[in-house]
Amino acid sequence: MRTARGHYGLKMTTRVRASKTAESRLDYWRSFTFGKALVLEADCLNWLREQGPNTVHAVVTDPPYGLFEYSSEQQQKLRNGKGGVWRIPPSFDGVQRAPLPRFTVLSPQDLRALELFFLEWAKALIPVLVPGANVVVATNPLLSYVVSAALAKAGLERRGEIVRLVMTMRGGDRPKAAHEEFPDISVMPRSMWEPWLLFRKPLEGRAQDNLRKWGTGGFRRPSLEKPFGDVILSAPTHKSERALAPHPSLKPQQFMRTLVRGVLPLGQGVVLDPFCGTGSTLAAAESVGYESIGIEKDPHYFEMAKKALPRLAVFKNGSNHLLSL
Ligand SMILES: C[S@@+](CC[C@H](N)C(=O)[O-])C[C@H]1O[C@@H](n2cnc3c(N)ncnc32)[C@H](O)[C@@H]1O
Repeated sequence: MRTARGHYGLKMTTRVRASKTAESRLDYWRSFTFGKALVLEADCLNWLREQGPNTVHAVVTDPPYGLFEYSSEQQQKLRNGKGGVWRIPPSFDGVQRAPLPRFTVLSPQDLRALELFFLEWAKALIPVLVPGANVVVATNPLLSYVVSAALAKAGLERRGEIVRLVMTMRGGDRPKAAHEEFPDISVMPRSMWEPWLLFRKPLEGRAQDNLRKWGTGGFRRPSLEKPFGDVILSAPTHKSERALAPHPSLKPQQFMRTLVRGVLPLGQGVVLDPFCGTGSTLAAAESVGYESIGIEKDPHYFEMAKKALPRLAVFKNGSNHLLSL
């Protein structure tokens, strides 16, 4: 809700009118607030279609990829430890790794479905964004081209990518069942980074006009001397952080805070995460003093977020400073 020129407040309500679409079986969405964050249990497409125009100033999100991996059937398999699209990596050096979805199993039809999903999503999102709003979408090198094409086709303007410099523990890189025969071969490059697509809603006029009118159209610099950069040093999410928010796709606060702080150039406005999981974007927004809204459709993760968000917002570890190159 707009409270004054350039100032937006969250409407603090615990019951929000639900979409009237056929898929929605709920009369009202459940929600909770923590600090300046509001979390709703809803399908984000339904929610987005109910929002007024020009109400969100930035999006930072980590969407589902197989689309399928967050279906209730696949989530049940994950919770039962019975595979499905989720791969449980073997423990290594006595350290148990977090489950990973098998992105490579996507067929051409799945890729087309993914493209159509992101096209529909971006079309629902664009009216809700203010001109110049940054849209940052976590992806992976195998699928980023599909998502990027869909977002551009929907009318968002591509502004590059932000590289999360991280080495996650993925499976072996040698030829499967022939690693002894080809000991010096890597079938795929060992992943050492994660792409976060960077788009924005086209500006209204020049950057300075847009900044004055909407408070968007750029990035907040880490300091006067230092520009916002497109490579952010990171590390895999630490187990002490995972213990606070046991979501299989939890992103670390250290990285999220650097990114989220940067997406509101004047430090004012609302950050939206339409696929919020346990709320790592919202926790980062809270820790840097921003207003935020998160949407999560799975009741299990929505409940998890209630406990996790307040803990993540104050989470500190040894390297808990804002990082950028
Ligand atoms: C990759 S996870 C995000 C995890 C998040 N980064 C975190 O740190 O907790 C994607 C989340 O989106 C949710 N989701 C999937 N489809 C959705 C939809 N249509 N609307 C809202 N949430 C959705 C899934 O249940 C899942 O929790």
